[in-house]
Amino acid sequence: MTTTVENKATLSFSDGTPSLEMPIYTGTIGPDVIDIRKLYASTGKFTYDPGFMSTAACNSSITYIDGDKGELLYRGYPIEQLAVNCDFLETCYLLLNSELPNAAEKASFVSLVTNHTMVHEQMQFFFRGFRRDAHPMSVLVGTVGALSSFYHDSLDISDPHHREVSAIRLIAKLPTLVAMAYKYSVGQPFVYPRNELSYSANFMNMMFATPCADYKVNEVLVRALDRILILHADHEQNASTSTVRLAGSSGANPFACIAAGIACLWGPAHGGANEAALSMLEEIGSVDNIGEFIKQVKDKNSGVKLMGFGHRVYKNYDPRATLMRETCYEVLEALGLQNDRLFKLAMALEKIALEDEYFVSRKLYPNVDFYSGIVQRALGIPVSLFTGIFALARTVGWIAQWKEMISDPEQKIGRPRQLFVGPTRRDVPPMSRRG
Ligand code: SDX
Repeated sequence: MTTTVENKATLSFSDGTPSLEMPIYTGTIGPDVIDIRKLYASTGKFTYDPGFMSTAACNSSITYIDGDKGELLYRGYPIEQLAVNCDFLETCYLLLNSELPNAAEKASFVSLVTNHTMVHEQMQFFFRGFRRDAHPMSVLVGTVGALSSFYHDSLDISDPHHREVSAIRLIAKLPTLVAMAYKYSVGQPFVYPRNELSYSANFMNMMFATPCADYKVNEVLVRALDRILILHADHEQNASTSTVRLAGSSGANPFACIAAGIACLWGPAHGGANEAALSMLEEIGSVDNIGEFIKQVKDKNSGVKLMGFGHRVYKNYDPRATLMRETCYEVLEALGLQNDRLFKLAMALEKIALEDEYFVSRKLYPNVDFYSGIVQRALGIPVSLFTGIFALARTVGWIAQWKEMISDPEQKIGRPRQLFVGPTRRDVPPMSRRG
């Protein structure tokens, strides 16, 4: 890890434990870190940080978020510039290789991904075991994990070539599997990838073409989807990325690690929030009901949250939400849906929430999930597939982080400790003496 060590932290104890000096590392940007690796050996004490609110689990060069400035950088490039000047596969190349591709590098990367978009023909049989109304995320957890059984030629994670091949296979095949999950749910035949189409146009074709009618590619909608994928591609050490890193730290193969990431992303507090935010808007129904809903949110006993609002890191605004709102407007305008009921409701809800002390005092602003559901719904994507699209996009981020972890000389198997508050040692009583 190339960081500078200038400062030190001294930890002193009131219980007579000898004080401990710990190095402080400074990265290129962002908060310094205190290296506590010697803490337990030196003091017999652990740190305590449920949810890792103040814990850096690794060093990374991939993505940086400044929650106060509302800044998101992929390898140093601002998301608002990437979303306008690049497409998703350029962004994938950047996340995987640290630099944006030149024209030749891009052409070669696009060709490589395009020629890996088919899945093994036997993959289709995995779908048949699912109920037609299975949630697509359950199908993706199963089928992505199953991919590892087809690629024994690239599961040696110590081999950089195997890591590279697995990365390409996952980026290329996730759209195919997401589209297959959708087709299976609506009882239509699977549509094979088309090599003449761009990554996002190919996905839309696999989703909406049928044997009876070709899908007419609408470049505005395809560009909108491509931007959604860029905005969701990576995001530092979020819950699902940390899951992928932890699974990878045991040496599990990349397909199994990505399946673990998909499982974690499914949660409504994380990637499931876009589906939950749209359901919330449907439940609110009209602007007149916003006041009553906000009242429920403020009532802690209701358990009701403003889905698509709040973030562990962004305590100002999520730059992705701003870009997503712009994309939302462009798509609805292109479709002649400027008066879309839910979009107007979302904007009214956002305005009211941002003027309400409860949300302002808790620094709760719209996150990427608040508008993404409205855009995806306008693109014809069913609500249940929103998180699957998020997983499709985040696969490149998970893989880039996984590759970085595997090649980090400091990485060890992740094994957190605990503060034990359970019963002390006691003997097993015979059945006759159990209460
Ligand atoms: C993603 O980590 C990432 O980078 C994730 C992500 C990525 O790209 O990988 O950005 C993607 O997951 C975005 C977040 C999507 N989730 C949601 O929109 C679900 C709703 N949001 C919340 O569940 C919540 O805001 C979290 C989970 C996102 C953040 O939770 P934190 O940082 O643990 O904050 P908290 O729960 O401690 O909230 C602080 C206060 C609490 O109130 P008090 O106890 O101080 O009175 O704010 C309240 C919370 O109750 N609060 C909310 C709220 N979010 C927080 N109250 C109402 N509605 C909300 N949405």
